[in-house]
Amino acid sequence: MSADPKRQAAARAVALVQDGMRLGLGTGSTAAHFVDLLGERVRAGLSVVGVPTSEATRAAAEAAGIPLTTLEETPELDLTVDGADEIDGRLRLIKGGGGALLREKIVAAASARMVVIADAGKRVETLGRFPLPVEVVPFGLGATRRAVADAVTAAGCAGELTLRTRPDGAPFVTDGGHLILDAHLGRIPDPERLAAGLAAVPGVVEHGLFLSLATGAVVAGGDGLVLLGA
Ligand code: A5P
Repeated sequence: MSADPKRQAAARAVALVQDGMRLGLGTGSTAAHFVDLLGERVRAGLSVVGVPTSEATRAAAEAAGIPLTTLEETPELDLTVDGADEIDGRLRLIKGGGGALLREKIVAAASARMVVIADAGKRVETLGRFPLPVEVVPFGLGATRRAVADAVTAAGCAGELTLRTRPDGAPFVTDGGHLILDAHLGRIPDPERLAAGLAAVPGVVEHGLFLSLATGAVVAGGDGLVLLGA
């Protein structure tokens, strides 16, 4: 077996895939291992269809020979496998480090099951050490930013909001044409309260708190594979 924990977790998740399944395909370096390994099974005869959560994953899935569909053609999925930036003991997640949180959340919500694959470094007691991505429309950015800051404060959190940029200094733009504010909060004592506050801000498209979406997780590390949830 591979020594890379991300690939180990991905390999365990690929074993959950059964013939005929409709799959959500996550984004990020761990999900890329899943797409790669799933492609091997497809080329060996497995029949599945997948909905990619980003243009990057679409390209990888096409290269791997995985048949793709859309949520228009296939609005209900059996299983989504995706990475995460943080995962707590109640399978609550922070996602969006790669900027794909909007499509990732739409696809996860359309799936009967969502299994997270991660290395052990993603496990936390309390969410928030990883900056929380908040996806916003470009129009009204200044006003939206103030309203997001107010929602953060109202949820008992504190910290800086930074506009995500690309390596060349230009604003990072998501696949949906939006911007990302990263909220550097340190800890989020009440993720449900913060999620509700952010969702109520006009101009916020989505945020990276994934609550009540993951049904299971495969976490790989020094202790081997740890399976959480269903
Ligand atoms: C993409 O937007 C993210 O939600 C990723 O799933 C997350 O950042 C995990 O990425 P890695 O597997 O590369 O750590």
